[in-house]
Amino acid sequence: MNSEHPKHSNDTINKWVAIQQLARVIFFLIALILFTPIILFIEKQFNSTDNSKSSSIPTVSYWRPADINSITEKEKKENIIYGKQLIAHTSKYFGPKGSIAQTSNGLNCQNCHLQAGTVIYGNNYGSVASLYPKFRARSGAIETIYKRVNDCFERSLNGKALDTVSKEMSAIVAYITFIGSNVLKGEKAEGSGFKELSYLDRAADTLKGRAVYEANCKVCHKSKGQGQLNTPGNEFVYPALWGQHSFNDAAGLYRISNIAKYVKYNMPQGVTYANPILTDEEAWDVAAFINSQGRPHKATPNDWPDITKKPIDYPFGPYADGFYEEQHKYGPYQAMMKK
Ligand code: HEC
Ligand code: HEC
Repeated sequence: MNSEHPKHSNDTINKWVAIQQLARVIFFLIALILFTPIILFIEKQFNSTDNSKSSSIPTVSYWRPADINSITEKEKKENIIYGKQLIAHTSKYFGPKGSIAQTSNGLNCQNCHLQAGTVIYGNNYGSVASLYPKFRARSGAIETIYKRVNDCFERSLNGKALDTVSKEMSAIVAYITFIGSNVLKGEKAEGSGFKELSYLDRAADTLKGRAVYEANCKVCHKSKGQGQLNTPGNEFVYPALWGQHSFNDAAGLYRISNIAKYVKYNMPQGVTYANPILTDEEAWDVAAFINSQGRPHKATPNDWPDITKKPIDYPFGPYADGFYEEQHKYGPYQAMMKK
């Protein structure tokens, strides 16, 4: 009897051990099933925050204009607000029916520098305060913001330069300088100027561009590119793209790469760099079409004193390479880039 008892109890113990082990395995399996999704979720969160720091999925922090409402000094604030107003509604002050002078074509600065020069890849002013004065190859000289603003008055607005000591010039420069004051000196603000666009491997096609224009642009900019004035006639609702009220042939947009980039990422109105609707080909072709139309001429005998510095799409010779004006104006550019 005595000898049987320990045997029986050994069996029982063995059974218990087996049951306990089984219970542990089952418990472990249940725990695994319950926690796997949680662990995977945490891991995913961790990886995604990690990636944003590494270069695999870069998240860019784009420039934002400094806040005018943060200015406490009354006079300074008023001056800057006046500068913004001049940029947004230039035509009301200096257009053909301007209240101060009639010295420009009727465009507003913000027709090309969207929302008073604050839109990402909308030709904004984010890098002006930080990078000017700077050397520019077009003039072959160091340019101040004043000079650069007057460049646009004389070319993009096909007009007269402002007196650099005028109230208006000082307000415009104060505004541009203030909104870019949050960018470190010498640095380029993220998303300023234009977003890059790859070259086509063919010449941009003005005929195809005309079709793009008719389908996507004509409704606002009108059949002769003349745009549409507001009712008092002192400002465009839809600005002119060619003809006497448009930029002249010395302006930045007369270079096809500039207008193609502007259009691709900003037009038709409402498009941004994040949701373009034109294909690259459509952007280049419509740019070619617009710049094949008639517009005011400005002689610029002093531009590009060093012709080796001319941008590839600068449409006027002489050139340092052997290519003709036609190809510089419309491409294809691959062969030129190799030179
Ligand atoms: C028809 C379009 C157009 C209009 C209107 C226009 N600009 Fe411009 N502006 C440009 C283009 C394009 C550039 C860049 C040119 C380049 O880099 O070759 C530019 C460049 C500038 C720059 C330098 C920006 C930088 O980051 O270097 C300033 C400052 C400027 N414009 C101010 C003005 C002011 C002020 C007005 C109004 C008086 C004005 N612009 C009107 C097209 C325009
Ligand atoms: C819904 C109306 C609308 C459509 C469609 C439209 N635009 Fe514009 N466009 C505008 C407005 C408005 C501006 C001025 C933006 C501002 O002042 O905020 C402008 C500005 C421009 C400018 C710079 C200013 C100038 O006069 O040179 C160009 C270039 C331009 N558009 C080209 C195009 C092209 C090319 C298309 C077709 C692919 C197009 N736009 C379609 C409304 C439109």
